[in-house]
Amino acid sequence: MSTSPPSLTGDHERAMLERRARLLGPAYRVFYERPVHLVRGEGAWLYGADGERYLDAYNNVACVGHAHPHVVAALARQAAKLNTHTRYLDETILAYAERLLARFPVELGQVMFTCTGSEANDLALRIARAHTGGEGVVVTRHAYHGVTQATAECSPSLGRGVAPGPRVWKVPAPDGGDDSANAGRRLAAEVDGAVAAMRREGVRPAALLVDTILSSDGVRPEPAGFLAPAADAIRAAGGLFIADEVQAGFGRIGERFWGFARHGVVPDLVTMGKPMGNGHPLAGVVARPEVLRAFGSRARYFNTFGGSPVSCAVGMAVLEVLERESLAANAARVGAELMRGLREIAARDGRIAALRGAGLFVGVELRDAASGAPSPDLATRVVNGLRERRVLISATGAAANVLKIRPPLVFTTEQSALLLEALSDTLRH
Ligand SMILES: Cc1ncc(COP(=O)(O)O)c(C=O)c1O
Repeated sequence: MSTSPPSLTGDHERAMLERRARLLGPAYRVFYERPVHLVRGEGAWLYGADGERYLDAYNNVACVGHAHPHVVAALARQAAKLNTHTRYLDETILAYAERLLARFPVELGQVMFTCTGSEANDLALRIARAHTGGEGVVVTRHAYHGVTQATAECSPSLGRGVAPGPRVWKVPAPDGGDDSANAGRRLAAEVDGAVAAMRREGVRPAALLVDTILSSDGVRPEPAGFLAPAADAIRAAGGLFIADEVQAGFGRIGERFWGFARHGVVPDLVTMGKPMGNGHPLAGVVARPEVLRAFGSRARYFNTFGGSPVSCAVGMAVLEVLERESLAANAARVGAELMRGLREIAARDGRIAALRGAGLFVGVELRDAASGAPSPDLATRVVNGLRERRVLISATGAAANVLKIRPPLVFTTEQSALLLEALSDTLRH
């Protein structure tokens, strides 16, 4: 048997794609015109079956880096000792809950564990509906909040193929071209309008649910502060403010550990996922205790795998690495370097319509040079061009014309420079 890695010829890729379609059915998509077959990861590097090394500038899940030894060891240690669930007394679960809650404002005093961000949002909606007695939810126009029935209904970015929920109203995401006070007032007025519209249909409001970096709306962190008046507006109407931190949380945005903190608001419920377990399925909801009361007194909650001792050991190890390696500070520093480099590229390339970002979450909006219209074609070309240069990113936004750059938080100055060089080269060709 040959020990050399299989070469990814076109035939080999085609055979794998055919097997995927046959085995996994039609709902899955792969990235890139020439899909990447990965076999190993380390830090911000991914290694292909073709023997090539790829720079991962996309995967926020592996926040402390792929296969971080401290996280792997914690997982293996706990798995070798005990893995049960939340129906037994367990020190690991409680120690992690304490450590995690210490990262939140004191008002947010309780945590419930799930396995995915979708489950966390689904649970947050159930809690909000139990607390308020309302049903209506306000989301942004191109939001994504998950795969369950309730969260897919709150995810207009899934497109026309997924019916919008009858209990869901949409508001436009701020475009960043305004100061904080105006953007805040405008969004709050939109929330008021959505609440008025739902009341006309006999629906009471339950919540405003917002991804605090507005990732699928095209990465819209600016201006900081715009979420606070919107949170006030939904509360004045009797609803709750749910901050979806699945994308922004755990130090990604640099200067603050949570996206809501940039907006100077303390949410009623916070949902988390993706980076929480660095790839292990760990997610959850953090809540104000008074908000959990109604749900908890009526409903029994048991999530078989959510918050298992192994998951909590992993979550604890992730927090330890984030803190020990000062990764939020690294995100702020390297994110600023990346943004500086992108500004230089944008200064000589009129196809870059806007740059938006916070920490290591950056959106590069692309337009057609001649018409100035959003250019999903250019975004597709750039994403695939970078892939050919072994740098992995993707695209997002309502028009799919915003490059989404969101590397592991261990991203270095050198890796940022490599990404910028590859992007310049791609745009030139
Ligand atoms: C903002 C946001 N919320 C929720 C989810 C759903 O998380 P999961 O895929 O873990 O169910 C996602 C996933 O992309 C997300 O981006």
